[in-house]
Amino acid sequence: MAAAGALPCPEAGADAFHVRGGELWCEEVPLASLAARFGTPLHVYSAATMDERLARVQLAFGTGANVCYAVKANPNLSLLARMHARGAGFDLVSGGELHRLAAANVPASRSVFAGVGKEPWEIEAAVAAGLLFFNVESPHEVPLLAAAAARHGSRIRVALRLNPDVAAGGHSYISTARKGDKFGVAIDVAAPIVESIVREPSLHLCGYHVHLGSQVLRPEPYGEALAKVAAFVDGAALRREGVTHYDLGGGFGIGYGRGHALDVDAVARSVLPTLRSRGWTPVVEPGRYLVGDAGVLLTTVLGEKRQGGTDFVLVDAAMNDLLRPALYQAEHPIVAVRPRDGARREVDVVGPICETSDFLGRRRALPPCRAGDLLAVLSAGAYGASMASNYNTRRRAAEVLVDGGAVRLVRRRETFPQLFANEVHLDDESDGTVR
Ligand code: LLP
Repeated sequence: MAAAGALPCPEAGADAFHVRGGELWCEEVPLASLAARFGTPLHVYSAATMDERLARVQLAFGTGANVCYAVKANPNLSLLARMHARGAGFDLVSGGELHRLAAANVPASRSVFAGVGKEPWEIEAAVAAGLLFFNVESPHEVPLLAAAAARHGSRIRVALRLNPDVAAGGHSYISTARKGDKFGVAIDVAAPIVESIVREPSLHLCGYHVHLGSQVLRPEPYGEALAKVAAFVDGAALRREGVTHYDLGGGFGIGYGRGHALDVDAVARSVLPTLRSRGWTPVVEPGRYLVGDAGVLLTTVLGEKRQGGTDFVLVDAAMNDLLRPALYQAEHPIVAVRPRDGARREVDVVGPICETSDFLGRRRALPPCRAGDLLAVLSAGAYGASMASNYNTRRRAAEVLVDGGAVRLVRRRETFPQLFANEVHLDDESDGTVR
């Protein structure tokens, strides 16, 4: 990455994406070569960036900590295998994600399983998987879990997810720990739920879990939440007996081109003294922080038009490939892969989908571009591919992992037959016909 002539790409949030010879590279590979080889839209991930971020979190929280990568941020099997090989466990929120671990050949023993509504089969599967612990989010889960554990003849570790009523910032759709949010159990009603867990012989209350929300940029809310949990735990001996873990959740924010990432060391400094004094092992669940800046979405310019005073750049990626701008008004930096000479002008970068919400960026200063040029939507490694859909019967994009000069296709572009595979023709009487 420190190759001769390499210049930083200041909007990128990770050094792996840099400019060499006037064009954007990922590690030792020019992005244009990937577009030529695999087509666009294309998700490209930098392995070095993921490794570096994981190491940074591991270092901040110390060797004893469990860093559980939040699978939902980017569940690609190759990414999971790589994270596992570098010491990560996983934060799971569905039986489907448990299936993913198995498909990636990764054990569940360092993983935690949260989820505001778990189906009976998911509880069963989580018990069978032998997790680090299971996060209880509602009182009704306790008897279901106890029964499943008893059927398996095991005693399973359980953490109670508390809702500490802390506003951590970030978009309201992804804030999870305010009083009115659906997640966890409010502290003022948690006492009888703790008692119900402790009463079950097949359950072992091993800790508490809090997840404040996503894209948190200040360290203070993590300390605030822990202080509230600690005060609750100090209210009765049975709330702390056998407790070994505190899971402070994820939500570690990144800069999205503006450079204000969460100071993870400051989060660690704010919680570790309390955790050490109580003998509690920290668990953290970052998703975006580990993979967000590691990914870009490459897209090809299809054409341009000017309308109602707006210059539109029409591209082949759309809200089905990256939903965040449409859903959360998220702003991902967008840069030209091989910027042309000429004055920058303000444009809206929009996809082909039949919705006005289908934009990747609005009011962006871009150099002149023509059909066939490549743009890179930056910091798209988290909640990009993972939230992709087939809307407008579009195939989900391919995904590529770059590791130094090595390139691996880690997900093929979908095919149209795959898109229709589960649909049943009306004249097909072998399936789905009710007479
Ligand atoms: N732990 C739990 C219990 C979670 O619910 C989440 C995210 C995480 C950890 C990881 O959060 P992260 O570190 O990635 O911020 N689609 C949204 C984000 C939704 C996050 C949902 N839960 C987005 O694109 O911003």
